[in-house]
Amino acid sequence: MSARDLFTFRNPHFTRGVGITAAILIVTAIVGFIVLPFAQPWVQFANVWDAICSAAGVPQRLAGVAAPEQAKRLSEVVLTSHTLSRPSQEAIGRGATLAQRCAICHGPTGLSRADSPNLAGQYAAVIYKELHDFRSGARTNAVMSPFAVNLTDQEIADLSDYYAFLPRLPAYHPTPQLPKPSIVIYGAPMRGIAPCGSCHGSLDNKTGSPWLEGQSEAYLKAQLQAFASGERRNDISQQMRNIARAMTPQEIEQAAAYYASQPPDIVKAVD
Ligand code: HEC
Ligand code: HEC
Repeated sequence: MSARDLFTFRNPHFTRGVGITAAILIVTAIVGFIVLPFAQPWVQFANVWDAICSAAGVPQRLAGVAAPEQAKRLSEVVLTSHTLSRPSQEAIGRGATLAQRCAICHGPTGLSRADSPNLAGQYAAVIYKELHDFRSGARTNAVMSPFAVNLTDQEIADLSDYYAFLPRLPAYHPTPQLPKPSIVIYGAPMRGIAPCGSCHGSLDNKTGSPWLEGQSEAYLKAQLQAFASGERRNDISQQMRNIARAMTPQEIEQAAAYYASQPPDIVKAVD
């Protein structure tokens, strides 16, 4: 039998071989692109085509899940590692004057007595981004938003430089009284949670991730809950929403308490 005779459909072995291979291909395609996507209870597809696109890795809107989010405004701020990296003395001075109207809530030295977030020593890029987001409505808060709506781009930059220049509260964790929560130190790799410090500053700082040490426990907890519920949605690419959703309520409590802990004398000095 020559090679030409081998590879023709007159050869029953060849026909069977091709037939079986084609059948396996079709069955695996149906299972991989249609059955498995629909077997995931946490995603909903509008139709079969949606499921196929999702399995193929095409980024797309998921019916019922992403649709309401699209209607709301998302952050439009672009941050790079050079955003506000070289503040001038003049900018800091102008920021100090502007900051007088913020002192009632954020404290005269950027350390809040109420449960407003501390701004002293916060990364300039974070203050810059949050103020832009409050101004555009990507982040909303009934108390804070009115103070951001009328700020100009220049004022936002000056305020960011000023607050970043002020000394921040130190990282302080009384180890024996409060054991380090594993969610903070190790994250939860099985749930896709990196250690908090890999973005938030104690291990490494990813541009745009706030300094958390010394923020009030109530504030930290409220923000984590707001990310988890989707009420706060200004984090770029859902970085923080994905993490907060995957955290248990107990882990949220532990992380908030850990980051809020401060030596007793500093708490007194702020009061
Ligand atoms: C009446 C009180 C009040 C005033 C005045 C005020 N803020 Fe705020 N600010 C808040 C509260 C409360 C929050 C937290 C909002 C939330 O829970 O989402 C906040 C949040 C912020 C944040 C986000 C911090 C973070 O870590 O995410 C920044 C930045 C900020 N304020 C800057 C300012 C600046 C600059 C001014 C002055 C122009 C100002 N605020 C005036 C109450 C106030
Ligand atoms: C992949 C990086 C990344 C990791 C890991 C991460 N975060 Fe975040 N987090 C962010 C970013 C970015 C923001 C700012 C979102 C925005 O407003 O743009 C944020 C914001 C927050 C805020 C709000 C702070 C404020 O002042 O507005 C809290 C609280 C927070 N994260 C807690 C945590 C905790 C607790 C962990 C660990 C369980 C964690 N984060 C892990 C990136 C990260």
